[in-house]
Amino acid sequence: MKTALVIGGSRGIGRKIALRLATDGYDIVATCRKDIAALDPLKSEVGNLGRKFNGLVFDIQDRKAAADALTGFFGESAPDIFVYNAGISRDNLMVFMTPGEWDDVVHTNLDGFYNTIHPLLFQMIARKSGRIIVIASASGQVGQPGQVNYSASKAALIGVVKALAKEVGKKGILVNAVAPGFIETDMTADLPIDKILPMIPLKRAGSPEEVAGVVSFLCGSDSTYIHGQVIAINGGLVI
Ligand code: NAI
Repeated sequence: MKTALVIGGSRGIGRKIALRLATDGYDIVATCRKDIAALDPLKSEVGNLGRKFNGLVFDIQDRKAAADALTGFFGESAPDIFVYNAGISRDNLMVFMTPGEWDDVVHTNLDGFYNTIHPLLFQMIARKSGRIIVIASASGQVGQPGQVNYSASKAALIGVVKALAKEVGKKGILVNAVAPGFIETDMTADLPIDKILPMIPLKRAGSPEEVAGVVSFLCGSDSTYIHGQVIAINGGLVI
């Protein structure tokens, strides 16, 4: 049975990606930051779909904890699908941005990718197959005021995808990013939706399921020649 690993699967977009991939037939390994109980609802939903579920707990900023958890679970094997979904925002105008706001976002969103893919990449390369999907953001494509830290981290992830695609394509690993716009989750719950909707041609927020559907496509058999790309999911926010 094939396995999909979702980094940051306890809620929001990551949880829906895990569920969609379970529906597609993958066994699921999902991670969360602090409390394994946060994965309980996903565990039972994946079980109801007849797929195996395993949860791992570690802070993706913690390089050693990430490596210990991932190599401890996968050993000499590797997931067939690696979805890097975990991410945070700490919005502030650059002039007021604290060192903590900068560091937290960059260390989570960007360093967390290194910390979680690096323990697994050699085995993926050795197996000569796999998919790596990174959840970037429209903010990383165009830049967003009040989000210099977040935009920088997500633009960096887009660079990661383009460069890594050139390294591992010949090894049979497809690497792509999706760039969601405004998706209704806990992360966006406090944002002023009335000010944002006028900027979106479809005049509505997106749902986590709409992101999960594109990730499913990028993991499936209809996307085998899509590589090193950034697929926008934003209702026309960025055209
Ligand atoms: P969320 O806040 O609901 O979920 C974030 C996930 O990341 C959680 O599972 C959390 O446990 C995990 N996480 C965060 N920091 C972590 C850490 N240090 N260690 C381990 N896990 C950590 O957010 P949402 O909205 O579901 O976002 C998911 C991804 O999509 C993020 O990368 C976000 O930047 C991106 N995104 C979200 C958009 C939106 O409108 N909601 C728009 C564009 C991108």
